[in-house]
Amino acid sequence: MEKALAGIRILDMTHVQAGPTASQLMAWLGADVIKFEPPAGDATRGQLRDVPNADSLYFTMLNCNKRSIVVNMKSDAGKEVFVELLKNCDVIMENFGPGVLDRFGFTWDKIHDINPAIVMGSIKGFGSSGPYAEFKAYENVAQAMGGSMSTTGFDDGPPLVTGAQIGDSGTGLHLVIGLLAALQARNRTGRGQYVEVAMMDSVMNLCRVKFRDHQRLTRGPMPEYSIPTEGRHATPRSGNDSGGGQLGNAVKCKPGGPNDYIYVVVQEAVWNALAQHMGGDALVQDPRFATIGERRKNQGVMWDMLNKFASQFTKREFMAVLNEMDVPCGPIMSTEDLANDEHVKLRDMYVELDHPTRGTWYNVGMPIKLSDNHVKIERSPLLGEHTDNVLGDVLGWDAAKIEAHRSAGAFSK
Ligand SMILES: CC(C)(COP(=O)(O)OP(=O)(O)OC[C@H]1O[C@@H](n2cnc3c(N)ncnc32)[C@H](O)[C@@H]1OP(=O)(O)O)[C@@H](O)C(=O)NCCC(=O)NCCS
Repeated sequence: MEKALAGIRILDMTHVQAGPTASQLMAWLGADVIKFEPPAGDATRGQLRDVPNADSLYFTMLNCNKRSIVVNMKSDAGKEVFVELLKNCDVIMENFGPGVLDRFGFTWDKIHDINPAIVMGSIKGFGSSGPYAEFKAYENVAQAMGGSMSTTGFDDGPPLVTGAQIGDSGTGLHLVIGLLAALQARNRTGRGQYVEVAMMDSVMNLCRVKFRDHQRLTRGPMPEYSIPTEGRHATPRSGNDSGGGQLGNAVKCKPGGPNDYIYVVVQEAVWNALAQHMGGDALVQDPRFATIGERRKNQGVMWDMLNKFASQFTKREFMAVLNEMDVPCGPIMSTEDLANDEHVKLRDMYVELDHPTRGTWYNVGMPIKLSDNHVKIERSPLLGEHTDNVLGDVLGWDAAKIEAHRSAGAFSK
């Protein structure tokens, strides 16, 4: 069965994390992704190395199912290769710092002239307009500027970054959505368009509910927060409060290690069963917890009670107890828990791979499951592993033509 994006070829100039996560997803959806690298390669190949002289996990985990071609865009012969590939691709993707492609002489207008059907995807820290347009950005810069850090952590502590890479991988997801929409539009019009995604915008999008609360601040207290909200002008950090219509928090379990917690949502529908289990009729009838409004007001006492009750169980045991009552909950899973989890294994979400220079390693699997798009994850390419192969296969160049370009400096410094 052909994959969803079979027939779509991508000229992938992305580097580091934000762009490569997007092009890796496009590859897993079936596109032919040609990773177009400078002679020194994507910088992440050599960053945070755990095996000497082998591509780092930072690189391998974000660049699976791609072919790698090395082209020096600072040479005329390299630019010629770029133009020929542009004519033969459906999508070009990049996440360079501001102005890099323009300095090579390839603005969107020029690229669109060369191939009017090509769709171009760009990630920038702050987009191409506005006072921040000229600034570079990394993950935590985007988390800082998109509203995530100011709303993450505890009220009496400093702002915190989240472990989930919402600035980079989150932005990559936004780019994939934009590219798929632009490809669909091209099916109707035959015309490519420019898709721009800014990391700051993407983080703001993911912080949407924090802006809901920002506007609610002026309307009176927000009792679902476990801290007072009166008199504030910005959405506060609220620890592990649920942030939704139902009360939720992380509850400590035995034996009390750093991840021996379970997140429990005391959903309206489950309170009676939970109260019955923890404290019998007396708790079910306790007026302090009779309605969600009362439970919000008295949530400190309620969470103390739940913590006391949970302390007799491990997080897995407590999960089983709560699942019996249909209480939405989730043990706090460490990376070790996840790497060994049966559910994760069965869903192909932690996949064993091999690599010629690093041996066995694992990648997180494809999170989007299409019924006709079975994904076989293949290791990331070595630097320039497919240069000749791509030039022959995509451009139809013979060995003599490739050699002439090699001599002219197209593929090296
Ligand atoms: C991530 C980022 C901060 C890295 O900054 P950087 O390492 O200075 O890299 P830049 O993208 O600014 O520049 C890339 C350089 O490689 C060069 N280069 C890229 N591809 C090349 C090629 N095929 N041949 C020759 N040179 C190449 C560019 O010319 C540029 O050099 P220059 O500064 O001399 O023009 C920056 O790319 C950025 O802000 N990107 C947008 C936001 C983003 O995606 N951030 C998240 C990354 S996870």
